[in-house]
Order: sequence, then C-alpha cells, then structure tokens
Amino acid sequence: MIYSKVIGIGSFIPERTLTNDELCRIVDTSDEWITSRTGIKERRIAEEGLTTSDIAASAAKKAIKLSGLNPEDIELILVGTITPDMIFPSTSCIVQEKLGLKNAAAFDISAGCSGFIYSLSVADNFIKTGKYKNVLVIGADLLSRITDYTDRTTCVLFGDGGGAVVLTANTENTRGVLSTHMHSEGGHDEILMLRGGGSLMPASLESVNNREHYIKMKGSELFRYAVNYLKAVAEEAIKFNNLKAEDIDLFVPHQANIRIIEATAKKLNFPMERVFVNVEKYGNTSSGSIPIALDEAYRSGRLKEGNLVLIDAIGAGLTWASSIIRW
Ligand code: ACO
Repeated sequence: MIYSKVIGIGSFIPERTLTNDELCRIVDTSDEWITSRTGIKERRIAEEGLTTSDIAASAAKKAIKLSGLNPEDIELILVGTITPDMIFPSTSCIVQEKLGLKNAAAFDISAGCSGFIYSLSVADNFIKTGKYKNVLVIGADLLSRITDYTDRTTCVLFGDGGGAVVLTANTENTRGVLSTHMHSEGGHDEILMLRGGGSLMPASLESVNNREHYIKMKGSELFRYAVNYLKAVAEEAIKFNNLKAEDIDLFVPHQANIRIIEATAKKLNFPMERVFVNVEKYGNTSSGSIPIALDEAYRSGRLKEGNLVLIDAIGAGLTWASSIIRW
C-alpha cells in the first residue's frame, strides 16, 4: 500500500489587516453583528499588485524547504483556487515558473472553498497509482479582488491567503493520507457564484456597472447546506476508516464561520478543544483556509507526528469534501 505522506507545509498571509471597525466605516455594519454572526474579528487584504500565484509560491517555497526536496524533485503541482491570476494560463504554471519546478506537470482545480481538499485528493490518487512520487498541493485565494465592498452581506466574510503541502509516496508505514471523499451537487449557482467574466457573461460595460464581477451569495441558505453536508462528509471519512469521533486528535474544518464550525462539531460530538479555529484572524480564505489552519496547528505544536487529523470543507458548486490524515 502506498500512502501520501505530508513532508512539508507552509502558508502565506498578507500583512495588511482589515478590522471589523474599519469595515464599519465602509458599509452599514457593526463589530457586534460581524462577531456574533461569524466569529470574524479581522481579515488580511493583499496589497495592490500581489497575485494569487505570489501567495501560492510563497507558501509553497516554505513547504518545499521543510520537505528537504529539491525543486526538480516535484513532479506535479496542483493549485486549488477560484481567484487565478488570469483565466489562463493556469496559476499552477505561473507558480512552476516562479519556483523553478521544471520537472512538474501543473494544473488548477476549481472547487470553491473545497479546492484544497479536492487537490489533495487528486494528488493522493496520483501517488497511490505510482504515477508520481512528489506532489505539491496548494490552496490559495485572493478573495478581496472579487469581493464587493459595497455589499455588507458578503464583504465582512472574506480574506486573502494560502497554504501548501508537499506529499511524497510512503510505503514503509501508515503515516499519510488515509482517505479522501469528494462530492458535488450542481444547480446551486444562485446560492454562491461570480457570474461575470466567463463565457456566459463576458466582461462588458454593463457587466461592470451591474457589479457582476463580484461574489454573489445567499448566506442563510448556504449555511443550512454547510452544516448538514459537512457533518455527513466528516462522518463518511470516520466510518470509512473504522474510527470513532473520539479517535480523531484534531478536527480542522474550513474556516468560514464560527457558527458553522460549532454546529458541525456539535453534530459530530467533537468537543471544541479538539477543533482548530482561526477564523477570527483571517475570515474565509476559501481554498487557503485549510492549509493555513493546518500550518498554524503544526507550527504551534497542536498537530504532532502520528496524530489523526480530520479536515472538511464546503464551497461553491456546491462541492464538499473531507480527508483523514495520519500526520
Ligand atoms: N451587518 C449588519 N447586518 C447585516 C450584515 C452585516 N454585515 N449582513 C447582513 N445583515 C442583515 C441582513 O440584511 C438581514 O437583515 P434583515 O433581516 O433586515 O433583512 C439580517 O442581517 C440577517 O441576515 P441573514 O443573512 O439571515 O443572517 P445570517 O444569520 O444567516 O448570517 C451569514 C449571515 C453570516 C452570511 C451566514 O448566513 C453565513 O455565514 N453563511 C455561510 C456563508 C459562507 O460562509 N459563505 C462562504 C462560502 S461557502 C462556505 O464557506 C460555507
């Protein structure tokens, strides 16, 4: 049996902080509303000129350094993102060039906030088949570029950032990715989408005037799907591995909203002490959310070698996914 072992991890978060109090000066909201409804106190906003590939490359550089591999050892680069630098070429090809990963194939994965776990799943399956040995998996998003700062129902939620892991084939023991589960359910465009700029609605004066190049979301509908589907996909992973919730050392859920995290943890009977939360600092960074959280958990000592970690996420599509990793 081949396992995909995590041998490197890194993240990058822009320096500039946007606090709830600052948002109150932009839209009609309050720190009390944002904190009580979402748990978010601040988020990071990239400076002008910084791109998703910059965030991805910075995170990946740290992960590759920790892995001890040379750039030429990386055989595949996957970037989960919904905010690519350009529609094409792919952000993963731009990262390849920035880091000199000249022996790698590279492509992006668009799965909303599930982008990192989807990418992890693709990487894991390429490694399990023996096709590739060393794969770089990145989740990075620059949501501030597609957030409408005149829409108080969305602009308080999102932030910028990304993270990366290096996976390598491991045949010696059972450390690594134990399982991945992915699901999709089309037909929910109205709940969460960015309509403009694709083949459906190419950019035009009208599309810009109608603010079609920004995220549109029906938050309370999404909330209900999130709690139910996140619970189901976490249970699927636990059951698949013949585990119980109490066997999981750390649950690292997608950092969208503290109420979604707490409601899911409650349904799964996870005490919050075993749930990693950093949504208060970064808001929802989409595909960046899970690898940033894993990196913080690892570097702060909450995630140790041999620990069982459960991750799950839900996003536009709808897509949702989970994985259990023996760290
Ligand atoms: N400040 C003050 N009032 C606000 C704000 C704001 N920033 N935003 C909305 N409101 C108002 C609304 O206008 C509404 O007022 P009304 O009753 O007079 O019409 C009221 O607050 C309640 O609005 P709801 O949308 O019902 O509030 P809810 O409790 O559902 O919270 C939220 C909204 C935080 C968006 C929540 O639904 C949520 O987090 N949903 C999930 C969204 C999400 O995470 N999306 C990201 C991608 S997918 C994912 O990661 C899960």
